[in-house]
Order: sequence, then C-alpha cells, then structure tokens
Amino acid sequence: MARKFILFLFEILYKFIFKQIAFRIDAEVVHNSITGVGEFLGKVGLLEKIFAAVLSNKDKNISQKILGIKFYSPIGLSAGFDYEARLTQITPTLGFGFHSVGTITNNSYEGNPKPMLGRLPKSKSLMVNKGFKNTGARAISTKLKRMMFDIPVGISVGRTNNPNLGQAESVRDVVSAFKIFESAKVSNSYYELNISCPNLSGNVTFYEPKKLDLLLETLDKVKVKKPIFLKMPITKSNQLTLALLNVASKHKIAGVIFGNLQTNRNDPALDKKEAKKFKVGNFSGKATWQRSNELIELAYRNFKDRFVIVGCGGVFSAEDAYIKIKKGAQLVELITGMIFVGPQLIAQINLGLSDRLKTDGFKNISEAVGAGVV
Ligand SMILES: Cc1cc2nc3c(=O)[nH]c(=O)nc-3n(C[C@H](O)[C@H](O)[C@H](O)COP(=O)(O)O)c2cc1C
Repeated sequence: MARKFILFLFEILYKFIFKQIAFRIDAEVVHNSITGVGEFLGKVGLLEKIFAAVLSNKDKNISQKILGIKFYSPIGLSAGFDYEARLTQITPTLGFGFHSVGTITNNSYEGNPKPMLGRLPKSKSLMVNKGFKNTGARAISTKLKRMMFDIPVGISVGRTNNPNLGQAESVRDVVSAFKIFESAKVSNSYYELNISCPNLSGNVTFYEPKKLDLLLETLDKVKVKKPIFLKMPITKSNQLTLALLNVASKHKIAGVIFGNLQTNRNDPALDKKEAKKFKVGNFSGKATWQRSNELIELAYRNFKDRFVIVGCGGVFSAEDAYIKIKKGAQLVELITGMIFVGPQLIAQINLGLSDRLKTDGFKNISEAVGAGVV
C-alpha cells in the first residue's frame, strides 16, 4: 500500500510539474537530457539502490522464463529510446524486465533531417522520424560486450538507412550487423530484427513474403545462437501479416513483436489537427493501440505454439498491458506511455498486473497469456 502511495505521488509530481515544463521544450533536447541523467544515475550505486527499493519488481507471479531467459517482469523498454545503450544500468531499477537497445545498423547514421521527434498531447502519441540515428554495429557491440546486464537486453538490428543500398545489398548489410553482434557474445541478450521501420529511405522492402524469405534464409546461415524476435508492421492486412508469419515460422525466428509505428494519419486515435502539424514521420502511442492488439490476437490464434508474442503499442497502464497479455502476448514493450505518465509507470504496471492475476485466480502470468481469446 505504501509503495502504491509513493508511486502515486511520483505520478502527480511528474504529470503536474515535470511534464508541464518538459513538454514546452524541444522533444529531442528533453530526450537527450533525460538519457544523460539516466546514464548518470545508473552509475551512482547508492541512488540506484534507493530507486530499486521503491520501483523494482518483487512479485514472483509476474516473472517468467521464456526461451531459457529470465524475465522478472513482462514489461520491457521498446526499441528507439536507447540507441546507444546508455540506460541499461538504470532500467532494471525502474522495474523493467527487459530492455531493447537500438535499432542499430551495420553502418552508422546521423538521423533523418529534423524534425526527428514531436509530441501530440491530445492524441497521446509521439511523431517519430529518426530513421535509425545510431553509431553503428561495431561501436555499440564493442560497448555491449564489456557490460553486464541485470535484465535481458534486446539488440534491435535493422538495415542501414542509405538510399543507395538495394534489396540484395540490404540483406548482406543486415546479416553483417548480426555477425558483428554474434562475435561480440553480449551477455544476457537476445535479438530483435526490425523489418518494419517506416522512416527509412530507399526502395527496399521485406513485406513481400519472397523477400522476407530470402533475408531469413541468408540469416539462418549465420547460425545465430540467441533467440531472434521479428519486429512486425501494424499497417499491413491480416492476410499479408499471416503470409509473413508463415514465412518466419520456417526460419530461425523465435518470436514476433506487434508492432511498430502507425503510418495511417487517419487513424481514429489521432487528433487530425495535431497530426497535420507534422509533415514527416509516423506515430506511436494510442495510434498504435488498436491494430497492435488485433495483430497480437491474430498471431496467437494462428501461431501460438510457434512464436513467443510480444505486444507493443499504446500501453499507458496496467490494464492496457493486461489486455495485451490476455490477447496472447507473453511480454509487453512500451515507450510512449512512460513519457506521458512518468517513469514510475513501470512499477505501477508491475503492481497492477500482480493484483489482477491474483483477482482472476492465475498463479503466474503465463496462465493469463491468451486467456481472453476464445
Ligand atoms: C522516439 C521513438 C523512436 C523509435 N525508434 C524505433 C526504432 O529505432 N526501432 C524500432 O523497432 N522501433 C522504434 N520505435 C517504435 C517503438 O519501439 C514502438 O514500436 C512504438 O512506439 C509503439 O510503442 P509505444 O506506443 O509504447 O511507444 C520508436 C518509437 C519512438 C517513440
């Protein structure tokens, strides 16, 4: 009860003081500053311990072992918040059960022309146009191989954002990034293969089953040891999504993530006026909620015995996370909810999930996965 009250106070402070100020400052400036503070706190042992005492998960009923990896909480930081692995030492103290780094590409990229990030407060969404701003696979793998992680780190890999790379070169490019990370032997990690970023240049796609097949066939030859989760688009039809999952099921893909950003500017969750302010980019948060849920359920109905399903998109509360789990997600990822509600949200979701499981008579979260699919 005391923890819940402290978290509630934190939420009030965040929403009514910190956010009021931060939301008036350029979104990228705030993101860079927060990352700097988070990195610093992660290095200061005492502060980290104080945070952990209040925020990190203590309930066993929400921890799971999946593909041999221990997840103390089903809630993970989604790809795109920590491109340079600067926050991996602080996210466990916030209660996260896993943490995606990247998306990282074979070659570095300075980011798309600005604006790269914007806020849509009425729509509870962010405009994203980073296009994989990152320092490249070699630099990040060198950093990751020297580090230890309390929670599993998902290394998100995508194709280098370069319009001059064609389809075949992009396959080689992605595979080369995987080889770099495999040789780095990063501890406590798995991979996310991101085929669904809508902010990249060039005429390359992995949304045609044959093209995805070729990418995954080439990747199979690397004999990657750790599990690979495929990050899927949420903007394709059920029919095409099933065709892509069918292809993935024939390769060394252990899980699927639903999913990436919303490209449809007419999504009912988007306030049209707000969305119109941005000439570029695609949308996170509530604009991804509905379709992500539909696709989690579609994947669960058709591939539950084949894939671990990760739900991602528009999670702002414990109830939201629980809905995704009951639709078939074993794990849940988020970014936007944390920015709108505050960093205490993860601990609040952990507590809320634990309570809901008890109320519904589930001994462990794994029993609730897909419980809403009849
Ligand atoms: C600032 C930002 C950057 C993102 N960059 C990436 C990325 O590099 N790779 C990726 O797979 N997804 C990226 N995404 C998408 C998120 O990982 C996630 O799929 C999407 O935002 C939906 O989750 P949310 O509503 O909890 O934010 C990004 C999202 C945001 C908000």
